[in-house]
Amino acid sequence: GVFLVGFRRYCKKTSTKLRVSEALTGAEVGADVKVQGWVRSVRSQKNNIFFHVNDGSSLKSLQVVAGAEMNDPLLTFGSAVEVTGILKKSPHQKQPVELEAEQIRVVGGCNPVDFPFKIKERHSLEYIRQLPHLRCRTNAFSSLLRIRSEATAAIHSYFKDHGFVQIHTPIITSNDCEGAGELFKVEPSGPDFGDDEEFFSVPAFLTVSGQLHLEVMSGAFSRVYTFGPTFRAENSQSRRHLAEFFMVEAEISFTESLKDLTKVMEDMFRSATERVLARCVEDVDLFHRHVTPGHRWGCDLMTEHEKHLVKHCGNVPVFVTDYPYDLKPFYARDNQDQPRHTTAAVDLLVPGIGELCGGSLREERLDLLMARLKQVGLEDNYSWYLDLRRFGAVPHGGFGLGFERYLQCILGVDNIKDVIPFPRFSHSCLL
Ligand code: 4AD
Repeated sequence: GVFLVGFRRYCKKTSTKLRVSEALTGAEVGADVKVQGWVRSVRSQKNNIFFHVNDGSSLKSLQVVAGAEMNDPLLTFGSAVEVTGILKKSPHQKQPVELEAEQIRVVGGCNPVDFPFKIKERHSLEYIRQLPHLRCRTNAFSSLLRIRSEATAAIHSYFKDHGFVQIHTPIITSNDCEGAGELFKVEPSGPDFGDDEEFFSVPAFLTVSGQLHLEVMSGAFSRVYTFGPTFRAENSQSRRHLAEFFMVEAEISFTESLKDLTKVMEDMFRSATERVLARCVEDVDLFHRHVTPGHRWGCDLMTEHEKHLVKHCGNVPVFVTDYPYDLKPFYARDNQDQPRHTTAAVDLLVPGIGELCGGSLREERLDLLMARLKQVGLEDNYSWYLDLRRFGAVPHGGFGLGFERYLQCILGVDNIKDVIPFPRFSHSCLL
């Protein structure tokens, strides 16, 4: 009996751990809860203290009310806290729920003098970019990362719903898919290998695209995709280039026209964007209201061309098709029936960014592909790629969408370095 009474008392004292987003729904009003997070603001009055706790689950923070006697000198902007108490309906319209604290524990203090963010100050994206280890504590960057996570899920779900098989294409590869020579070489570093010894016995690089590996798999699964990091040693500090970026790539067998391909590109873009806009209302709104600095354009000629085209078409996304033969990589399908020598390649250009997506039908005709590889001096490297044309080849095509450029596009973010957790570009690899 004594044990049961004690046990019941113990159970009664057990608070339900809630995420701030769950607490803010109001469904748990009256419950004894525990919330953990970081302090976003503190205000003291004669009898009470008020502070906001944010745990990254939503843009909004939960207001905590406590008696002045519970104040702690360590309870400052940026400190980590654990608060237990009762969730109450708040008299304020803007903040429907508040937590009446019974116990406050400062888990990790934060010296406000040294902390690089100041309470109630809106810091610029340029400023927070210098602090890659702390910028996730700001509203703007935490919103961005929640949106990024939702967009990732939305893209995976689009492909899953449309019968695509996800393939983990390799990060280390021996081919340069784009043939542009923007490769990072992979070499061992350690006592087991000499300076001139090759770990893989062939030159190996970080992948610039998973396309060729997807083409292999499209020959068995018909529809495949991959979504992972890709690397380009581009000596560029531009607003739309990174050395490490994420690419969404799809490859579809039995595709005979660019129209079939652009339909999938458009469908995926729409479906992912609709889901992000529906599920990340507050986070997206923050960008559209406060962060967007207005579109600026890069200044190289190519970007200027893209800008002109998008503007000419009324500032909407534009597909540009049938590029000159010599401008596209060896894999693009030759449009033999056109008066000018072109390939069945397509780029999707969007306002504010320029090129967001590149794709093409792939050359599936063995003789033409062999001739092309010979022309560019690659005939010895790609016998396996030619095999794909020998054993049950079908017309196929695919595309790659730059995920960071996609986020820039839907949020209106000027600089690509502000839409990736840890940006890598020439002369910069912080953390
Ligand atoms: O146009 P790209 O080079 O196409 C390919 O790599 C194809 N093999 C893809 C495929 O068909 N499977 O790159 C595709 C997209 C570009 O449209 C752009 O959005 C993005 O990748 N991209 C970059 N994003 C950030 N930083 C860079 N350095 C980028 N280079 C390309």
